[in-house]
Amino acid sequence: MPPPLGSDELIFFVNGRKVTERAVDPEVTLLTFLRRKLGLTGTKSACGGGGCGACTVMLSRHDPASGKPRHFSVTACLVPVCSLHGAAVTTVEGVGSVRSRIHPVQERIAKSHGTQCGFCTPGMVMSLYTLLRNYPQPSEEQLLEALTGNLCRCTGYRPILESGRTFCSDSGGCGQTESTRCCLDQPGGDSCPAEDSSLPARMCSELFTRAEFWPLDPTQEPIFPPELMRMAESPERRTLTFCGDRVTWVSPGTLQELLELRARHPDAPLVLGNTALGPAARPHGGVHPVLLSPARVPELSAAADTSAGLTIGAGCSLAQVQDILAKSIAKLPGEKTRTLQALARALRSLAGQQIRNLASLGGHVMSQHSYSDLNPILAVGRAALNLRSEGGERVIPLDENFLAGVASAGLRPGEMVESVHIPHTRKWEFVSGFRQAQAPKNAVPHVSAGLRVLFKEGTDAIEDLSIAYGGVGATTVMAPRSCQQLLGRHWTEVTLDEACRLVLGEVVVPGSIPGGRAEFRRTLLVSFLFRFYLQVLHELRTRWFPGPPSALSDSCWCPKLPDQFLSALEDFPVTVPRGLQTYQSVDPQQPSQDPVGRPIMHLSGLKHATGEAVFCDDLPRLDRELCMALVTSTRPHAKIVSVDPSKALGLPEVVSVITAEDIPGTNGTEGDRLLAVDEVLCVGQVICAVVAETDVQAKRAAEEVRVTYEDLQPVIFSIQDAIKHSSFLCPEKKLEQGSIEEAFAKVDQVLEGEVHVGGQEHFYMETQRVLVVPKAEDRELDIYVSTQDPAHVQKTAASTLNVPLSRVTCHVKRVGGGFGGKVGRPATLGAIAAVGAVKTGRPVRLVLDREEDMLITGGRHPLFGKYKVGFANSGRIKALDIECYINGGCTLDDSELVTEFLILKLENAYKIRNLRFRGRACRTNLPSNTAFRGFGFPQGALVTESCITAVAAKCGLPPEKVREKNMYWAVDKTIYQQAFNPEPLGRCWAECLSRANLKARRAQADAFNQQSHWRKRGIAAVPMKFSVGFAATSFHQAAALVHIYTDGSVLVTHGGNELGQGIHTKMLQVASRELRVPMSRLHIQETSTATVPNTVATAASIGADVNGRAVQNACQTLLKRLEPIIKKNSEGTWEDWIDAAFEQRISLSATGYFRGYKASMDWEKGVGDPFPYYVFGAACSEVEIDCLTGAHRKLRTDIVMDTGCSLNPAIDIGQVEGAFLQGAGLYTSEELHYSPEGALLSRGPGPHEYKVPTVADVPEELNVTLLPSAPERTQLSIYSSKGLGESGMFLGSSVFFAISDAVAAAHRDRGLVEDFTVRSPATPERVRMACEDRFTEMIPRETPGTAKPWCIPIS
Ligand SMILES: Cc1cc2nc3c(=O)[nH]c(=O)nc-3n(C[C@H](O)[C@H](O)[C@H](O)COP(=O)(O)OP(=O)(O)OC[C@H]3O[C@@H](n4cnc5c(N)ncnc54)[C@H](O)[C@@H]3O)c2cc1C
Ligand code: FES
Ligand code: FES
Repeated sequence: MPPPLGSDELIFFVNGRKVTERAVDPEVTLLTFLRRKLGLTGTKSACGGGGCGACTVMLSRHDPASGKPRHFSVTACLVPVCSLHGAAVTTVEGVGSVRSRIHPVQERIAKSHGTQCGFCTPGMVMSLYTLLRNYPQPSEEQLLEALTGNLCRCTGYRPILESGRTFCSDSGGCGQTESTRCCLDQPGGDSCPAEDSSLPARMCSELFTRAEFWPLDPTQEPIFPPELMRMAESPERRTLTFCGDRVTWVSPGTLQELLELRARHPDAPLVLGNTALGPAARPHGGVHPVLLSPARVPELSAAADTSAGLTIGAGCSLAQVQDILAKSIAKLPGEKTRTLQALARALRSLAGQQIRNLASLGGHVMSQHSYSDLNPILAVGRAALNLRSEGGERVIPLDENFLAGVASAGLRPGEMVESVHIPHTRKWEFVSGFRQAQAPKNAVPHVSAGLRVLFKEGTDAIEDLSIAYGGVGATTVMAPRSCQQLLGRHWTEVTLDEACRLVLGEVVVPGSIPGGRAEFRRTLLVSFLFRFYLQVLHELRTRWFPGPPSALSDSCWCPKLPDQFLSALEDFPVTVPRGLQTYQSVDPQQPSQDPVGRPIMHLSGLKHATGEAVFCDDLPRLDRELCMALVTSTRPHAKIVSVDPSKALGLPEVVSVITAEDIPGTNGTEGDRLLAVDEVLCVGQVICAVVAETDVQAKRAAEEVRVTYEDLQPVIFSIQDAIKHSSFLCPEKKLEQGSIEEAFAKVDQVLEGEVHVGGQEHFYMETQRVLVVPKAEDRELDIYVSTQDPAHVQKTAASTLNVPLSRVTCHVKRVGGGFGGKVGRPATLGAIAAVGAVKTGRPVRLVLDREEDMLITGGRHPLFGKYKVGFANSGRIKALDIECYINGGCTLDDSELVTEFLILKLENAYKIRNLRFRGRACRTNLPSNTAFRGFGFPQGALVTESCITAVAAKCGLPPEKVREKNMYWAVDKTIYQQAFNPEPLGRCWAECLSRANLKARRAQADAFNQQSHWRKRGIAAVPMKFSVGFAATSFHQAAALVHIYTDGSVLVTHGGNELGQGIHTKMLQVASRELRVPMSRLHIQETSTATVPNTVATAASIGADVNGRAVQNACQTLLKRLEPIIKKNSEGTWEDWIDAAFEQRISLSATGYFRGYKASMDWEKGVGDPFPYYVFGAACSEVEIDCLTGAHRKLRTDIVMDTGCSLNPAIDIGQVEGAFLQGAGLYTSEELHYSPEGALLSRGPGPHEYKVPTVADVPEELNVTLLPSAPERTQLSIYSSKGLGESGMFLGSSVFFAISDAVAAAHRDRGLVEDFTVRSPATPERVRMACEDRFTEMIPRETPGTAKPWCIPIS
């Protein structure tokens, strides 16, 4: 294509290769450019908004001043490709390759088991790589900082950090603290595996061998391209222009030129980091016809320190600002840098490293986000903006008028911010900044604050006061009137109370505030004031009046801060987690080439780390391929009056609109249509789809399809409303044993309570994707899809197209995380795409972006539970009656099964003679909720454990005592009369309590709590009995196909899908043992319905069990055939035997089959044997909460898990840790918000949105032990191993109960009743509001019904 008229040449380098673009579209991001134009698909797309780090790459620019390149990580999804002129980009492909040389970063992340599904891995590698380019021996703090912008949904982060730590200067041993022993110190030696004499069996604590790692040699890194160095040293000052279809990018080389352009295009935004413009522009599809890029204007990146203050160029990135601040703070006296220190502290928590590397100071100030971390501090710090325009220079204060958007106080047309001036603080001046967010890192604050006070020289009389808040209005809000009224007042409690009263009167947080949490925000306003009051008081006392505290009496004007209050002054420390992972090493007699039981790296680990692992959307574009975009309902319950696609069809490159009328076969089921026909049942339901030549065109056209609706009643969102309307998806499920009413009559005490558990988004890093390729003959179709159940996709597509199953082949190479969310939904999406492919006769690709994925697909069922429990004063529970309701959404999906599982698993680890469990799935007008790791158990068991905790509180006993009293200890039968042996449960529990040293640590926590009023510690242990498998017999089967080729290589195929759980690795371990050939000779290509038919979903934790047995069966068949040959030539090699077999016409291909467990459950009688076996476990967590903000830190978690004979301890520990952290997310931070109209508001990881755990959420100490195997062996799984995919999820509840324990301690301190209604997740909002105090008392409370809430409760 010829370049557009007037377009310049864009020059940059990618992985050392020069890229020269003459026709570049300013709307294209670096991510799209890399993936589409250059075919570099190692860089992944998972959110498109800078929030997940999957697209991290390294940018390098030559700095002529230092003569060195500057390397920094960025999220490629936010970088406009036009901004790259003169930059060098390094992607994961440029770091290393399995085909040539892998980089130590890639080697170590893979070999440390830091990859599971591998979708986040390239981003992780790039963050680590960039860190090492700047600091070859980083500190642990730098390591943590480098990774806070990268999300991983699988691993739980610990192994990723472990791999990074191998480069750190300050890491020694293998990362254990004093409380656990380093494996190097254990008896028996200097290398692992080493015996741990505290456990009966031979235990090992090494999962990888450091000694085999390649050293990092920084001199071997690629050099910065000399051409770019020359360009930077003699920069071109000419304005560069890049013209696209809709947008023109103009990049001036001088300030004068920039000012002229600014005058000519007053409405054109200045693009610096694009972190506000990019995500902000997306949802509305809005464009700015002209974008001005000031990045080449040197004046905007300058910084100057004067005697009056620090001036920082508006174009400096926030990361550069951090460096500039650090230098000033280091060289100036502390009293001058209080504002700078507050800014530096705030910057440490602002977004992830990649965003700080992109976002500019000017962009931050000018985007005036409500939640800004910096503006409140800049405002109170009396910062000023130096403005420039063609007309000259001007200085305006960054004050309340500027922030409030008063026209006269802001920028005039043609002006821009050149720099920000931050005055030095004075001797009697104090400045602080505060924030509280949903999560400790990578989350925007709910409320941020900047506070400054200046005292009259040598007194505590307030001479000047300034207060500003973020998160409580449309932009940063100040409280000038309150401050004015407090002038002259003394720094006392009385003044504080007055300040709180005044601020609450002036800063009004409306009940309908976007983001919700109005009462919490109000509480934070005053909590932050209090914290500031304490900080200043403490400083006044300790700094300005040195000498023994006794020298000042408490009646003095500067009262002594009570010791118990000191903890309120500090932030939680940021520490890199440590811990010990222990497992049973293999029998010393096991042959060394037999890999079973050894911590073998994930088969794709290295390919994950180099970006060479191919995911569905990484498949190269096919000839004539089309892209599909979905049109979804904007109404929760409505009749579809009309669908008008005409405008969409009139757009360029749009090929077709697919509606229900195009479906040749069946359109889903009566209650669950693929494409809505007459009625929509929820916001997000798919109505039709657009296919176009490009994804951008398809998306634009989808927005132009006009759907008219007629609203219908009723509209039901919450469980309570569903109960009121008797709106249920299926009949009640019930189990009962003993005589509940009689038992209640005889007990000492009866308690009743309610439990609410919120839903959860799967947040698999790879969103739903499918590519359908129609074939030329016989209506055949290939479907490449990211699914846990290819056979279901095949069946759905075949029935939708009305073709036999034999014509449709589904291929699954690997899945970037599933967690249950890719069992059902991929079939619907695959079938819709298949209709598009058949209608157009062209390949169709459908890739959901994160927002669509979250909007359309349901997740974990929210639950509302009521319990009534009768117990003896000793804590022994005699009767328990639990009634649960789950929010199923608008269609049945898996809701009936989830209800059944919930009821079957509710008893958890407890033997209670008189029980009644009832459960119902509510039909609501929300997207259908579906399978999710644990399948109801994590929600249900929280009700049971909450009840036990309440009983313990009532009896005045530690909860673990009540748990022990009621646990199964001997061979017994469950509520549904299935016999089982709980011996491993007792072992897990005892081991966990002893490893965690619970008794002593509880005493320590009590002692801490006595000393600390505003921080409280809590500790809790939970036991677990988790049943694996499906309750239906047909699901307990699997098949495999094993081919031996004449060169001796072996191709293994089985019915399981690789979701990151390492099933392919385990299957090759099995095949290797059975065939007695090394794993290197074995290979798995993909899962395909053409090779292994009629498979069941890879789910319910039994994938490896059943497929392992099928692979074993196939291998044993082959070995049996080879036996006579081997016998005859016992000295021969594998190749000799295969040669001979071929010569003798012995088939070298075999299928394997496993007919698994016969599950049964009679719901009429309430009895059955639904599960093949149980996984037992226990976890103990300790937390510290901040009563003023509701934040918590996870001090330590100890997990003991019964794995039977682990097939692969590294993989199994990975499953346990990953599930644990996902569980901790469920119970503490992951919160879904729905609008009053039923639309999901929390879509994506970006600002304000859904917060999955980050690297900063891992417990500071995390110890995991796989219980040594018991003598009892099971034939129901492979080699007596146990499936661990789901069970660890529930152990995350130990964090929840530890938080409850800490809240209870706060209640005791404040003389409040100990129990509070349990609501999960225990977010900072809930914890803060539960820790009632004088601040929660003083805030105005919401009168229900007075304001339209931003979001509605649904559980
Ligand atoms: C994932 C993510 C997480 C985030 N987390 C946080 C957080 O925790 N806390 C927080 O406070 N913020 C957070 N942010 C917001 C971030 O700080 C801002 O988006 C960023 O600072 C904006 O800077 P930018 O250079 O990217 O602006 P751009 O997007 O490039 O520009 C934004 C606006 O500023 C204007 N502008 C830019 N420079 C000038 C100038 N010199 N003169 C006049 N106008 C100018 C532009 O015209 C444009 O309208 C987050 C953002 C993202 C994407
Ligand atoms: S895809 Fe770029 S940060 Fe998520
Ligand atoms: S391995 Fe990190 S998201 Fe799957």
